This record gives sequence, C-alpha cells and structure tokens, in this order.
Amino acid sequence: MRIQVTITERLQDYIADVSVSEPAPLLELREQTSRLDERNMQISPEQGQFLSVLLRATGARRTLEVGVFTGYSLLRTALTLPEGGRVTACDISEDWAKTALGHCERAGVADKVDLRVGDARETLAALVEEEGAAGGYDFVFLDADKEGYETYYEHGLTLLRPGGLLVADNVLWSGLVIDESAQDEETRALRAFNAKLREDHRVDLCMLPFADGLTLAVKR
Ligand SMILES: C[S@@+](CC[C@H](N)C(=O)[O-])C[C@H]1O[C@@H](n2cnc3c(N)ncnc32)[C@H](O)[C@@H]1O
Repeated sequence: MRIQVTITERLQDYIADVSVSEPAPLLELREQTSRLDERNMQISPEQGQFLSVLLRATGARRTLEVGVFTGYSLLRTALTLPEGGRVTACDISEDWAKTALGHCERAGVADKVDLRVGDARETLAALVEEEGAAGGYDFVFLDADKEGYETYYEHGLTLLRPGGLLVADNVLWSGLVIDESAQDEETRALRAFNAKLREDHRVDLCMLPFADGLTLAVKR
C-alpha cells in the first residue's frame, strides 16, 4: 500500500500538539539557535523526540553522534541516556562544539558527553582503534557532511554491536535524490549512500519519509 496520508502543515501542527513535548533545556537551545543564519541545520523537535524513543526502545547506553552543530540531538541524547550512559560526539567546528557543550553543562548532563573536535573521518578512524570501542556501541546517529556518510557508516558499523541501530539523517535531501538535474556533490553522495545500503547484507534496513528522510539500519 502506498503512503495514504498527505502531511499538510495543519496535520503537522496537530502531530506536534498531540505528541511532542520538549524539555526546557531543549526549548532554550532551539530558541537560541533560531537566531542563527545556520538554524536550518538543526533537527526538529519531532525528530529529537523520535531519537529519544529509539534510544529508550533499544536500551542504548553507549552512543555515537556525527555532526553536533549547537547540540540539539546531542542534548536530547544526553538527557535520554540512563545514569552511566555515554555519548561520543564529533564535530569539525570548535565553536559549535563549545556552544553544544555549554548547553549540556547548563542542563547538568555534560558528564555523559565525550565531545571530540575535528574532521569526523579522522575522529572515527582513531575511535575504532580504541580498546573496547569496536562492537561496543548500541546506537549511531549520522548528521554531518553528506560526502562523509559512507565513511561514517563503515566506521559506525564497526563500532556497533550486533543488534545495534544506526540512524542516518537527510537521506531524501528535500527530494533532490530523485531530481536528476541535481548533480552537486552532496546529492550524489546521498544517492550513492542509499544505493549502497540497499545492497548491504550486514544490516536490516528501513527508510522513513520522516523529516528530511531517515534511514534506520540494524547491524546483523
Ligand atoms: C546538520 S548539522 C548537525 C545538526 C545537529 N545534529 C542538531 O541536532 O542540531 C551538521 C554538522 O556537521 C558538522 N560537520 C560538517 N562536516 C564535518 C566533518 N567533516 N567532520 C565532523 N563534523 C562535520 C558541521 O560543523 C555541523 O555542525
């Protein structure tokens, strides 16, 4: 059956009204980010809540995030993880990392955050070599530069335990993935990433038409 409901703006508002709740530190973070030119990089409150549900459903304790920006998904994760849980996060920007960490500190969850600044290609290459890292992660969230997704995915799979869940954001890229006239690097990288996962027998796969498109991949 094809998707039957067209999500109009009113229906989107209804969904937010009846299902989304945003803890105060996240609301404050979102309000501050809304004043920035780059605000569109932030995930939506609905998406943040979905991350929380996935983390709780999988009982995640050790997670990885690639692409932090001002810290919305990071703070969501840190607020959701149980006592003793830990999120390793990486971003190439020192400034965004500082902002994100500040929000986690004010919310009292900075002790759950290990934030690493640098190109995620290098950060993850180093992380997989750390003792106990490979196969030690329950959950991975990819939300950085799209050209890096394939590399982040490979490292993410190495880090995940069997049964662990990887979530990749923006896989529909505002619909550009099916627009053949769009031939920029990011769109081509996402097409290649989606095609690669389709053939990857190391995971069980599901693509959701939620937000900008989310792929869920469970490591076999
Ligand atoms: C879409 S934003 C992340 C949004 C964030 N998850 C949130 O909830 O607000 C993408 C982030 O990836 C970071 N980034 C871009 N290229 C990167 C790279 N090569 N390595 C690490 N981070 C990178 C950017 O600095 C930016 O903060």
